[in-house]
Parts: sequence; C-alpha cells; structure tokens
Amino acid sequence: MKELKLEVILSTEKKQKPSFDHLEFGKYFTDHMFIWNYTEGKGWHDPRIVPYQPITLDPAATVFHYGQTVFEGLKAYMTKDEQILLFRPDENFKRFNRSNDRLVMPELDEEGALSALKQLIQIERDWIPTAEGTSLYIRPFMIATEAFLGVHPAKTYQFMIILSPVGAYYKEGINPVKIAVESEYVRAVAGGTGNAKTAGNYAASLKAGEIASENGYSQVLWLDGKENQYIEEVGSMNVFFKINGEVITPALNGSILEGITRKSVIELLNYMNIPIVERKISIHEIQQAYQDGVLEEAFGSGTAAVISPIGELLWKNEKMVINNGEIGSVSKQVYDTLTGIQNGIKEDPFGWAVRV
Ligand code: COI
Repeated sequence: MKELKLEVILSTEKKQKPSFDHLEFGKYFTDHMFIWNYTEGKGWHDPRIVPYQPITLDPAATVFHYGQTVFEGLKAYMTKDEQILLFRPDENFKRFNRSNDRLVMPELDEEGALSALKQLIQIERDWIPTAEGTSLYIRPFMIATEAFLGVHPAKTYQFMIILSPVGAYYKEGINPVKIAVESEYVRAVAGGTGNAKTAGNYAASLKAGEIASENGYSQVLWLDGKENQYIEEVGSMNVFFKINGEVITPALNGSILEGITRKSVIELLNYMNIPIVERKISIHEIQQAYQDGVLEEAFGSGTAAVISPIGELLWKNEKMVINNGEIGSVSKQVYDTLTGIQNGIKEDPFGWAVRV
C-alpha cells in the first residue's frame, strides 16, 4: 500500500484519558486528528496530523446551510499480542466515495485516506481500549467549506478523521432492546439520500427516535416512505429477522444504507450454512409470523453496536415479544464470531481483519 506523505504536528500536552472500563459511546476524543483540504482545480492538498482542536469555518460555509457532508464509521481493536486491527476499512472508504458521488462531493483517494488513518492510529495507539466490548471508534468525514449561499456544490472541502475510545453503543449492550415500529415519520425514500452516509438522514431520524424514547423504547423500526409497510432499517442500523429457521433482511433498494456489518452478517451466515435471504419484507408479514409463533429472532447490525438484538417490537397496539426478550442463538453466534474476528481472537477465514 502506498504511504501518504503528510505533515505531523504533535500535541505538546496530552489529555487525561477517561477510565477505559466505563466508556460511553462517542464522548471522548484522542489527542490528534487528521485534516486534508480539497480545492477545485488544485485537488487534494496539505494532508496533516495535528493536535485535536476546534476548526474555524466561514458562517456561510455550504455544510451549514445545505448539508453537503458525508461521514463513515469504523473501529480499531487492540489484540492480546498488541497488534492493531481494523475491520474491512477498504469497504468504508469505497462507501465514502459512493456517498460523495451522491452528494456531488470530490472523490477521495481511498488508499491515501487509509494510509493517513493508519498513521494517525499509530500515533494514538495508547487510546485503544482493550476491555471487552470496547474499541477505538473512527470517524472519517468530509464537509463543504466554501462560503457561498447559492445552492450548488461547493468548490472547497475538508476531509478529517477523529478518533474516540468507545464502549457499547446502546446502554443495554448486547442485551435485547425494545423497538417501536414507526408509522408516521420516514427516514428516507427511494431516489433520496438514504443509501448515502450523510448527515441529513440522521437529522431526519431524530424526531421519531425522541418520541420512541419518551415512550420507553430504545429506537424505531423504519418502514418505507411509499407504502408505509416494508421494513427498511432499525434506528441507525440494518435489520435482520429469523422466521421459521430462515434469516431475512430487507433487500437494498436505494433508500437502505449498504451496511458493512450487514454485508458481513450475510457472508457469515452463508459460510455457516444458515439460510439467509435478501428480499422485501413487510411489517404485516412480521406480525403474522409472530402470531404463528415462528418469529424466532430479530436484530440490528451496524458498526457501532455490531449486533443489537430486538427483544420487543411495538406495532400499533400490539407488543411482540421476541424469544422471551432474550438474545437468540443466531444473533449470539453472529455477534461472537464478528467480534471475535474484529478482536483477533477468532479465526478470520474471510481476511476481513486488516493490520495497521
Ligand atoms: C452504526 O451503526 O455504526 C451507525 O451508523 C451509528 C452511528 C451513526 C453512530
């Protein structure tokens, strides 16, 4: 892999690290960050690792007004023999560029970005927590920085990477969460930006999430924006159901994010000879399966939580308790295998774990 030549300005003061045994998600940030600028006509320039710090932007910067921004999320793990592992990072940078294309943002040099990430992680290796369920969450993102209020793609951008030592995404950890089926708001529609990892999708999701939380539910199950019956995602994750021995996940349709954990779960289930299909699945089918006693498991998949089992689904006034509110055997197997590969404690027949 080609190494990106970059400037390194080390911080003169080191932050006090939080207790790595009691980490929340996304609250603490490491001592350094990576920045790379883009200017139309000039291309990418001035890659640098600098002390973690606030950035200064013109108040008219496009990102503030029209949301031209893209992000990614991946994690680094410290193995028992002190190797640092990333999980399928090339997939993240490929998706970054697919999102960039949708938001009319400049293509990122994927190899250069991965090289910068590796150099940043080496500098911050003391920030990688090792307790079970912890990791160093990596947030690459790009923003449009041009000061101009006309609605058009900006001519200048900034790509950055920040790092955050994290624990479980949901306070429940791997324990099943309660999910409310959302019938009023939608997260995305076909033809929109649902399959791009861009801020607006997450902003659009907040209202429903807040209402669910007020009613004692961790998140919502999103239905499609057209017929309001086909399942799309759960919270900010992809979703899987096990019905009568077969695992089903909604087929990609343009409004569902192409999750890297989703893709890995499908590949893993195929490898384990557990039947898995990608197809449309409606909330009515889930309700029928529940009533027939064949809705065996449900779980979300994403980088942040890896696997998050669903213990209860609320649809209209019906509470569907899945697997007695306990984690199911397929969910557990998938969680153990994926986290085992990520942490370097399980064999990786796929070559997903990449050394830094
Ligand atoms: C994930 O599941 O990794 C997500 O996309 C959540 C993230 C926005 C914190």
